[in-house]
Amino acid sequence: MQYQWYPGHMTKAKRQMQEDIKLVDLVIELVDARIPLSSHNPDIDVLGQNKSRLVLLNKADLADEAKNEAWCEYYKKQGIYAVRLDARNRAGMKQVQDVIQEACKEKLEKNRRRGILNRPVRAMVAGIPNVGKSTFINSFAGKACAKTGNKPGVTKGKQWIRLNKNVELLDTPGILWPKFEDQRIGLHLAYIGSIKDELLDRDEVAVSLIGELTQTYPGLLAKRYNLTEEAEPVKVLEKLAESRGCLKKGGELDCGKAAVLLSDDFRSGKLGRITIELPPV
Ligand code: G4P
Repeated sequence: MQYQWYPGHMTKAKRQMQEDIKLVDLVIELVDARIPLSSHNPDIDVLGQNKSRLVLLNKADLADEAKNEAWCEYYKKQGIYAVRLDARNRAGMKQVQDVIQEACKEKLEKNRRRGILNRPVRAMVAGIPNVGKSTFINSFAGKACAKTGNKPGVTKGKQWIRLNKNVELLDTPGILWPKFEDQRIGLHLAYIGSIKDELLDRDEVAVSLIGELTQTYPGLLAKRYNLTEEAEPVKVLEKLAESRGCLKKGGELDCGKAAVLLSDDFRSGKLGRITIELPPV
């Protein structure tokens, strides 16, 4: 499968990120809870060296709750703070605020020992496109938080969202580009709609999704679409086209249409809460 890339944008975004990251103590990385591995760009591990780290497993409302839990445990073991989140829901922000405080505790303490009492700890949000960065910043900023910027002593041109007297958040997120180390990553990003559908062979993506779903959630597709159990993914797609009346003009099965139907159902959560990737063991 071929993907279209825009190296100019990517280089610019990376350079911006390198600049912004110098200004912060804490990096808040959003990943998609359904595919935390493929929606993570390992560049952040290098860029975020010597910074506190917080991972937000976003769109957790669409992911499998038991697996959300497993992912949080996994990050915890790596010494990375993690919170599962539905960024559209303001109710989850209190927990994020608490974890930010916790993650920045050492830095605040260090400042205090040095006699620096009124310098807030600063954080930035980063993640691949469409993972929910803007939604998160909007929910997080809410009404209660004041915006600061262009004041003496505040980096020129940067807007900071003041969380409380201790913590400020950069209001423009860092964009990371997904890394395509193998085709699987590309496919997983395609499942969640992170790659423009026009660039994809949607039948191929659907067949691959069917293959993974039948392994991880056996019986799910058969139940949802009222199909007889079938092992061969291509056949499942054909049966789906048949049962949903996806037909071309001459009456021939329209698997492309069935593929779109399946991916829409997956992305919108109509297939249920599904996590494709498990934490490495
Ligand atoms: P970005 O800045 O990282 O590029 O992502 P953005 O916030 O624009 O969010 C991308 C899409 O994901 C938006 O939907 C947004 O509503 C949705 N979204 C963000 N966080 C969550 C979440 O935790 N759960 C769910 N289910 N969806 C989330 P959209 O279709 O582009 O827009 P709209 O339909 O919401 O208007």
